Amino acid sequence: MKILGIESSCDETAAAVVENGSKILSNVVASQIEIHARYGGVVPEIASRQHVLAIVPVIDKALSQAKVTWGDIDGIAVTYGPGLAGSLLVGLNAAKAIALAKQFPFIGINHLEGHIYANWLEREKPPILPCLCLIVSGGHSDLVLMKGHGQFEKLGRTRDDAAGEAFDKAARILGLGYPGGPAIEQAARAGKAHLPLPRAWLRGSHDFSFSGLKTALWHLVQRENISPDTSLMADAAASFQWAVVDVLVSKTIEAAKETGVRQILLSGGVAANKALTEHFLNSSPVPVLVPPPYLCTDNAAMIAACGYYRFQTGQTSGYDLDVVPSLSIG
Ligand code: KG4
Ligand code: ZN
Repeated sequence: MKILGIESSCDETAAAVVENGSKILSNVVASQIEIHARYGGVVPEIASRQHVLAIVPVIDKALSQAKVTWGDIDGIAVTYGPGLAGSLLVGLNAAKAIALAKQFPFIGINHLEGHIYANWLEREKPPILPCLCLIVSGGHSDLVLMKGHGQFEKLGRTRDDAAGEAFDKAARILGLGYPGGPAIEQAARAGKAHLPLPRAWLRGSHDFSFSGLKTALWHLVQRENISPDTSLMADAAASFQWAVVDVLVSKTIEAAKETGVRQILLSGGVAANKALTEHFLNSSPVPVLVPPPYLCTDNAAMIAACGYYRFQTGQTSGYDLDVVPSLSIG
């Protein structure tokens, strides 16, 4: 079964063809990062207009790279939330138009569930359910128990900034540019994580909080006069990164022990961070699965994989499906 996935929730216009929920036949991502970088973050109206320009060429490219024609496609899976309303509408309407014209079944996919399904891609053995999923992206930090396909129970979430958002804001404080995650990871390589920064443990809860850490970093930068050309810069980046990693890893492992799962699945843009994945792999008592970095950040292959499992249970969406910008998981 070949599924066309479409993703346009933020600043990536993406389309992919995935076979049987795991084999990537094509995975096209048109990034708008350069356009938004000059504003220091994603500008919603610019993002939706870029999606309008890119969506049809990106879908065409996904079909041609997969070496398939419309006749080979069995269904369409498209992100309908969470994300920017104007951006989501472009992908959803493109999916509806194709579904109507070609009489394909189509299904709206929760972007966060999609991130989790990146762990089903290009793997010989699928993950073992139930499992514990940590989704760490620009907009979310969710700890979710996945009991079965389409069955999610949220155990924890961020109470303020998402992990990726914290990286983006910290990079701005340090003058490292946008997007912040890769910039901080790069700067941190030359530094030592010895500067004192706080961690919000929120004991007794599986929730996270990163805004206090961000404020503490700001005070540290002011106090020590840290700027990109000072030697403490790399240490500040490393100390910040370690503070985020420390909390994410400790709290996720604690939840894994409590729930007795046999695997932990990481996903979302922040899972592309090597310091995070290495610390997970070194500290977890159960196997930790992480998609390769290009499948951690936004893509449509993960949406197609998720769609495959929805179609397997006979689920489809109707043409009255609307976008849900604040959709959550579990
Ligand atoms: O999942 P994603 O591509 O988009 C959303 O759904 O939000 O995640 C983007 C986020 C950004 O905040 C970005 O700074 C962060 O993921 N990110 C990273 C890394 N690569 C991307 N954070 C830390 N280290 C990285 N290497
Ligand atoms: Zn995402």
